Amino acid sequence: MKITLSLIKADIGSIGGHLRPSKALLDTVGEYIEGEKDKLVIDYRIGSTGDDIAILFSHQKGTGNSEIHKLAWDAFMAGTAKAKEEGLYGAGQDLLKNAFSGNIKGLGPAVAEMEFEERENEPFICFCADKTDPGAFNLPLYLGFADPMHCSGLILSPKMSKGFKFEIMDVEYTKNDRFIELNAPEDLYDIAALLRDNERFVISKIYSRENGEQAVAASTTRLHNIAGTYTGKDDPVMLVRVQGSFPAAGEVLSPYSIGHYVAGFMRGSHNGPLMPVKAGCGTSFFDGPPIVTAAGYCVHNGKFTEAVDCFDHPYWDHVRRKVARKATELREQGFSGAAMLPYSELEYGGIVDKMKRLESKFKS
Ligand code: 13P
Ligand code: 13P
Ligand code: MG
Ligand code: MG
Repeated sequence: MKITLSLIKADIGSIGGHLRPSKALLDTVGEYIEGEKDKLVIDYRIGSTGDDIAILFSHQKGTGNSEIHKLAWDAFMAGTAKAKEEGLYGAGQDLLKNAFSGNIKGLGPAVAEMEFEERENEPFICFCADKTDPGAFNLPLYLGFADPMHCSGLILSPKMSKGFKFEIMDVEYTKNDRFIELNAPEDLYDIAALLRDNERFVISKIYSRENGEQAVAASTTRLHNIAGTYTGKDDPVMLVRVQGSFPAAGEVLSPYSIGHYVAGFMRGSHNGPLMPVKAGCGTSFFDGPPIVTAAGYCVHNGKFTEAVDCFDHPYWDHVRRKVARKATELREQGFSGAAMLPYSELEYGGIVDKMKRLESKFKS
């Protein structure tokens, strides 16, 4: 059976600043979809990561389908009305346009979608991250799909010995999609050369070179490139199919033990380590640290199993302590150097005006 998975996420309001949506807000989004779903989707799930709400749909309408996107948009609009009623902070934050216009991509929410023929058993993982941007998934995907230090299947499984094809998007180019396709292992150094720059080059898709099947679909939208100004961080989502000719679930999860430094901490303006957290976790310290959740499912005839919360395991408590230490260490240097993003990425307008004002005071 051919199905499409659509994972669509937006910040439509949260409690106590950019921390966590309210239960009533999650319920409102869920009730809206429950009321409309029969016409369009086979199954759905709703969850939160930091201040963002993610909706996972299974359906048979293909990627980029305007009815599915409209359903998500309308659910977020219904949620926004609730967020306003409750007086939540940043109600409707990620809904950048007043009206839906065919495709939710470019209107604010993050979107990852994939259409495929269901395998006999179809395990996959939904990743959602908050207080960061799409480049945050670059290193974990590189390590999980191209480095035998994390993906032992590259050595051990005959179904993976041909490696994987990476589609990498130039997200600075906004006229249309501009991407390059590179193959691991032979193009590894070229892939690394691009992925070095997480703010410009972002992995959008990965395919098995054994059978051409798509393993990964990741969101690549950078809101400031669309809006031309700061509009909230581009908190990303990603779908990863696992097992068989793809890496095992644990191989895909393994790189999150690093807690690598990503952009997006406090005001979208600082670097911080990415902390793997449990489903529904909010943010806190310095509006962060940047967090990622991972929900594992199997889908069968379009119906989802219950989720396994992949980072809800004692092993990740140990990782979280390490990541908290890394966050504290970088925060100790405040605004200085590597702690804050380069000027080109400083997304709140204030510093731009400040630098202009200071410029006129320089003497020579
Ligand atoms: P598969 O044989 O289903 O790919 O599983 C391998 C595995 O579980 C490695 O941890
Ligand atoms: P969100 O993009 O998650 O709303 O975070 C805004 C922010 O930078 C808070 O410090
Ligand atoms: Mg927010
Ligand atoms: Mg957010």
